[in-house]
Amino acid sequence: MEDTTLSTLYTQTPLGALTLQNHLVMAPMTRCRALDNIPNALMAEYYAQRGSAGLIITEGVSPSPNGLGYPRIPGLFSAAQVEGWHLITDAVHAKGAKIFAQMMHCGRIAHPLNLPAGARMIAPSAVAAAGEMYTDAEGMKPHPVPQAMSTEDIEATVGEFVQAAENAAAAGFDGVELHSANGYLLEQFIRPNTNQRTDGYGGPIENRARFVLEVAEGVIGAIGKDKVGIRLSPFGVFNDMPVYDTMAADYTYLAQKLDACGLVYIHLVDHEAMGAPAVPDDMKATFRRLFKRTLILSGGYDAARAESDLAEGKCDLIAVGRPFLANPDLVNRWKTGAAVNQPDMDTFYTPGSNGYTDYPVLNA
Ligand SMILES: Cc1cc2nc3c(=O)[nH]c(=O)nc-3n(C[C@H](O)[C@H](O)[C@H](O)COP(=O)(O)O)c2cc1C
Repeated sequence: MEDTTLSTLYTQTPLGALTLQNHLVMAPMTRCRALDNIPNALMAEYYAQRGSAGLIITEGVSPSPNGLGYPRIPGLFSAAQVEGWHLITDAVHAKGAKIFAQMMHCGRIAHPLNLPAGARMIAPSAVAAAGEMYTDAEGMKPHPVPQAMSTEDIEATVGEFVQAAENAAAAGFDGVELHSANGYLLEQFIRPNTNQRTDGYGGPIENRARFVLEVAEGVIGAIGKDKVGIRLSPFGVFNDMPVYDTMAADYTYLAQKLDACGLVYIHLVDHEAMGAPAVPDDMKATFRRLFKRTLILSGGYDAARAESDLAEGKCDLIAVGRPFLANPDLVNRWKTGAAVNQPDMDTFYTPGSNGYTDYPVLNA
């Protein structure tokens, strides 16, 4: 048994108007179990198994048919999807955790073979991502060139995010996280390699940030600022998003603007533990200084580092991905110093319960 007398990790803490049962957040993880893009009972079982977290952030959920870039990812734009998600929010609440839906519009990280009939692959500019992506129908395929969004497309997409946030509230979610990280649509607007627009949404950072801020303001207007967080990946390079000269200044601008919006949290990605370049400490410190509400850090945490980053005041909550994926009872294991299961990468995105709901739990 670890000495947890000085621990803050396992104590209650506020998030806006909510009280979380501890400081541990389950990080968003796409698992591709939503057949026909509709959440189901198997997913409810998976999330409920992890309901000892303080907060669960779901896998990426598309606000639009256009945003369903990967196979079998869920949406939040139809009545059947709202109904499916309600199963999940009820099951998680029964375990004491709070749950936010991660709103992920994939933008150019998509393939027509993964999109439903009538959906379009859209992005700020007609710039294809390097590399390939998986499709159920034909395996790996090169990323196609997306269509550049018209002003009408931009307005319509902001509207889809707002409607999806209202749907999230109707499905029993405690809030939503805007996925503005890891190379998806919102980040595609922020970064100059994917945003080559010459209108009010492209050029200087004041313009490249406009779409993200319009989405944030629209969603806040619909469900309230205590229910809206955002995920950002400053210095992230995933999905062909190279580092560029004014990166630090751009994200400093975003930290100030998002603070002014009054969002309940900013959640920073750091994929150094997955082999990506590290996020500089001074970038994280800049967010801590400029953003007055809750700051969530993530990436490569174990219990000891989580405890020390909280104790040093670097952040308010710690988000954990792969350890939660592989350990439904992670909170108990970390608290008692028990050994943890290792994640099986081969079943991260495969359909069915194998590698999903069958990770072993310690006897209480
Ligand atoms: C299988 C898998 C799926 C993921 N899907 C998402 C996602 O949908 N949205 C997101 O923001 N991050 C996603 N991530 C990144 C995680 O949220 C997290 O940042 C990453 O795993 C590093 O944290 P860890 O070291 O605690 O695992 C995913 C990671 C994994 C392993």
